[in-house]
Amino acid sequence: MSWLLTGGAGYIGAHVLRALQGAGHEVVVLDDLSTGVRRKVPEGVPLVRASVRDTAAVARAMTEHGVRGVVHLAAKKAVGESVERPRWYYQENVLGALSLADAMIEAGVRDIVYSSSAAVYGAVDVDLVTEDTPTLPVSPYGETKLIGEWVFRDVAAAHGLSVVALRYFNVAGAGSDALGDTGAFNLIPMVFRALSNGERPQVFGADYPTPDGSCIRDYIHVADLADAHAAAAGFAAAAPAGGSAAYNIGRGVGASVFDVMATVSQVVGYDVAAEVVARRPGDPARIVAAADAARTDLGWTARRDLSDMVASAWSAWQATG
Ligand SMILES: NC(=O)c1ccc[n+]([C@@H]2O[C@H](COP(=O)([O-])OP(=O)(O)OC[C@H]3O[C@@H](n4cnc5c(N)ncnc54)[C@H](O)[C@@H]3O)[C@@H](O)[C@H]2O)c1
Repeated sequence: MSWLLTGGAGYIGAHVLRALQGAGHEVVVLDDLSTGVRRKVPEGVPLVRASVRDTAAVARAMTEHGVRGVVHLAAKKAVGESVERPRWYYQENVLGALSLADAMIEAGVRDIVYSSSAAVYGAVDVDLVTEDTPTLPVSPYGETKLIGEWVFRDVAAAHGLSVVALRYFNVAGAGSDALGDTGAFNLIPMVFRALSNGERPQVFGADYPTPDGSCIRDYIHVADLADAHAAAAGFAAAAPAGGSAAYNIGRGVGASVFDVMATVSQVVGYDVAAEVVARRPGDPARIVAAADAARTDLGWTARRDLSDMVASAWSAWQATG
């Protein structure tokens, strides 16, 4: 019996794959390789090259590989791009979720762990975001992730599935040098790219109502995040049919953009001397997770800190960048 991992050739998926294997599960990857890369899927792990929107192909993969549960990461994830191409984001992320739910029903697969995001909360004004904080996404990307939660929650209730949604906060770091984040949109790779190009990394706004004026986020190591999926898979499998739950996956610790720059300076061994530029529209001043529910229910807690994230990301960047 295997777990089907959609998006397993991507940055986070490659780590989740190894965490599921580490927990003793067989894994089958389904990925269209639109942003993922084949070399991140280890030898011996079946890779089905298909879109999650191809319901028949997904259901066939489930039946052929004796799939018992799904970890669903395949999605488009760039906030700015989602503003420019909302129809595409709804097609890929919302119709993708619906197609996957259809395939699960067709193939008789019950359990699913769904990759959601802190983007479902939008521009919150609270110290710590709990799972009960109202969800008011401010981008098409965040909207599609929230609708995905609703799709699986409602289908679970009607068709007896078991769903756990994980709302990731700011994912960073690498589990090994081959698995770094090369994405253009996350802060730490953006800083490394600037350094590699001999440019000053940019801080988008230093006039926020925070102690040092820059935005505060909750950074979570991708290897810790991956472990949360293995814990959630076990939780979903043990939960009664028809149930759904959503958990914040963060550390409950805020770090400002200047904190990140200071940590990067320590890791690279020189002062990165960032340049302050204008705010970006839609960036909340502070968003930090309350992470207690995941600890209590899933038995999961983050073990790595910001230095671990920056050091592992820098090592991977130098190895492959
Ligand atoms: N990286 C972050 O900071 C972050 C934060 C919150 C949530 N997430 C969520 O985590 C998930 C994975 O993100 P990532 O950072 O690893 O991105 P990624 O782009 O590296 O990985 C996405 C993977 O999904 C595949 N894919 C995309 N659309 C597909 C489709 N229609 N059918 C099959 N495969 C498809 C891609 O080829 C890729 O391998 C996404 O659902 C994203 O919304 C990411």
